[in-house]
This record gives sequence, C-alpha cells and structure tokens, in this order.
Amino acid sequence: MEIIQNPFKYTEKELQVSKFESVRRDWLITDLNKWDDYVKSNIICKMKIDIEYDLWEEMGEIVKKLDFEYVYTRIKVAFWPTCEVSEKLKEKFKPFEEDIEKFVIIGQDGDDHVVPHCDPTRKASFYIPLTPRGEKYAPLELYHNGEGYGIPPNDGPVVYGYNTAMMHSVILDGTSRNIPRYNIQASIKMDITYQQIFQKYKEFFDV
Ligand SMILES: [Fe+2]
Repeated sequence: MEIIQNPFKYTEKELQVSKFESVRRDWLITDLNKWDDYVKSNIICKMKIDIEYDLWEEMGEIVKKLDFEYVYTRIKVAFWPTCEVSEKLKEKFKPFEEDIEKFVIIGQDGDDHVVPHCDPTRKASFYIPLTPRGEKYAPLELYHNGEGYGIPPNDGPVVYGYNTAMMHSVILDGTSRNIPRYNIQASIKMDITYQQIFQKYKEFFDV
C-alpha cells in the first residue's frame, strides 16, 4: 500500500495560535473590564480590599522560607505563618471572618500544570497572587460556557474572590514555566457557595 503524506497547511488563524509556547493570557479573557455582571457574580471578581504594597512584598518573601506539604501530588500547601505580616493581612478579611475556614498558602514548583478541576473541599475562596511578578505569574484560569477567564499579570496586590466549584486550572507556558509560583488564599467554609458570598458581601465586590 502506498502512503502519500499530505503536507499540513496552516490557516492564517492556526498559524497565529500554533506557536509552541503560546502565551496563556492570549487564550483568556483577562481584561477586568470584560468581566461582566454574570462573571462577577458567578465566577470571579476583583474585591474592594486594599492590600499595602509592603505587606504584599513581605509575604512574598516569607512564603519562600516556609516548609510545605504536598497535596494532589504537585500542589504545595501551608497555613499562613504566625507573624506580624499575617496578622495585618488577616485584618483585611475580618469582615468575612464567620465564613472563612482557613488561611492557606498555595505553591507550585513551576514544572507542572495544575490540571483543570473543581475543588473537592470548598466552593469559594479569596485569592491574592504573590510571586512571581507580572506576566511570569501564570494566570488562574476558570472556564464557563465556552469561555476562559484568567487573572491579569501580577503587577501589584489584588484580592480576587473566585468560584472554586467552577472548573479551573493553572497552565504554565514559556513565560511562567520553571518558576516557583505562590499565592495566598482565605478559603470559605465548604457549605457556602460563591454566589452566597457574593450576595452577602456585595459591597466588597468590585461590580
Ligand atoms: Fe483548585
């Protein structure tokens, strides 16, 4: 049997998206102005919680010194350490105190993706990216209704609320690969949904 190879021809669009290390943010809606009311009330929203730059920077340094446990084989977890920086940051979450389960640091070594999943132990969380900075911080991605939403580059302290019962992931690309990645989170109690948190604390959501 003769087999004749048919040379693959890219369409213009395919060529545009076929770069080997294509940049994840190119695939996602990361412009916060394009997160509409549905996205903000059901998927992810920036919070009206101001974090001082110094605090954010110090926490970014502190997490590098901690010991972590590994969960789901590749994700590193630790509680926020007992220190002045943690206390000051916890103050910011005082209004939500009765609904917060725990304060955790989540890390990745940077050599593996966090594959798409829905969290088995919580439905909502507050999320502050720490390090690395800028584009090197691989975006948290959330998927809904044929769209992918991602957080913008990590250029300063920002708190997000997000729906951890929605499919989400962290996909590394040529910009973010092999760089340890850390964020801190305040996990919401298991029986409370993102939508409930959104309704209850609406004045803290940047809608
Ligand atoms: Fe998760």
